Amino acid sequence: MKIVEYSWMKRTILLTGAAGFIGSHTALALVKEGDTVIGIDNLNDYYNPQWKKDNLKKLSTYQNFKFFESDICNFSQMEKIIKNSKFDAIIHLAARAGVRPSIEQPLLYQEVNVGGTLNLLELARQYNVKSFVFASSSSVYGNQEKIPFSETDPVNRPISPYAATKRAGELLCHTYSHLHHINCICLRFFTVYGPGGRPDMAPYLFTEAILKSKSINKFGDGSSERDYTYIDDIVAGVVAASHLKRPFEIINLGNNQPISLNDFIKLLEKITAKKMKIKQLPMQAGDVKRTYADISKAQKLLGYEPKTTFEEGLSKLVAWYSAERL
Ligand SMILES: NC(=O)c1ccc[n+]([C@@H]2O[C@H](COP(=O)([O-])OP(=O)(O)OC[C@H]3O[C@@H](n4cnc5c(N)ncnc54)[C@H](O)[C@@H]3O)[C@@H](O)[C@H]2O)c1
Repeated sequence: MKIVEYSWMKRTILLTGAAGFIGSHTALALVKEGDTVIGIDNLNDYYNPQWKKDNLKKLSTYQNFKFFESDICNFSQMEKIIKNSKFDAIIHLAARAGVRPSIEQPLLYQEVNVGGTLNLLELARQYNVKSFVFASSSSVYGNQEKIPFSETDPVNRPISPYAATKRAGELLCHTYSHLHHINCICLRFFTVYGPGGRPDMAPYLFTEAILKSKSINKFGDGSSERDYTYIDDIVAGVVAASHLKRPFEIINLGNNQPISLNDFIKLLEKITAKKMKIKQLPMQAGDVKRTYADISKAQKLLGYEPKTTFEEGLSKLVAWYSAERL
């Protein structure tokens, strides 16, 4: 395994989406390393904004964390923040996330995920920020048959507006890297879960349902598979990527161990010693059949090594949900 050594120098980082799931965990890891983090989030109501504020409250105990409630779509608002500090890197995680809602609101997804990303790249150019990490998604692979998904696979067939906006973000990163010599690292996250996880995603929804004895909507016959990746592993990959000095890379961050929906439900029943109530529904439009990450590039370039098995991670999610949300 390649050992990745970080520079000893403390950095100043602009982190978008800082109040969200992955953003708040990433912010915590960075401030603990001693970096100064300027967090941005518009605290929108895609899910309960109070949970985002709770994430920020935990971060507010660190003097090297500062927060601005602002919208990445508002260029002049973002410019005021960026021009007032000398940033070593931008870690851009803010987005409209979620596949199914993107079918209902494609214009909003385009505005935030494409327009907002372009605003940040353009400001990085204008204010000489030389490192840019972009949160992309496994959804760009669409319904490709070949497994595992590798960064060199063609990704010209997205099947949701969300996936298309994430691919557009990658292409804009490449353009800015090529034209303006900004180091751009695009990370394709594979279904991230864990404590504080997004409440619209299956790990959270299923945990909530089984603990509250409610039924879940099960889409399809249960053979669909996801490469669930634990939050701490993703954060380690994001932090490592923010140190990587390369002009342009696309890197998968997954777990390399897909789990079928049926096995997921069985495991949750085992962990909670409860039976899941199931409402059977057909596969949803926009949902891919399977995700499965080839992580050899992340291993080589980032020293990335996912440490958390799905059973361990799901147990931690169940424990967290029981303590914080039940
Ligand atoms: N969670 C996953 O499994 C997963 C998988 C693939 C990619 N991603 C990507 O990772 C990133 C983080 O995802 P997450 O799961 O933490 O989602 P999240 O919704 O918890 O976090 C995103 C944050 O961005 C903020 N935001 C949205 N629009 C904004 C705007 N216009 N201006 C400022 N802030 C705005 C939201 O308020 C939210 O706090 C996203 O880019 C998402 O697309 C996530």
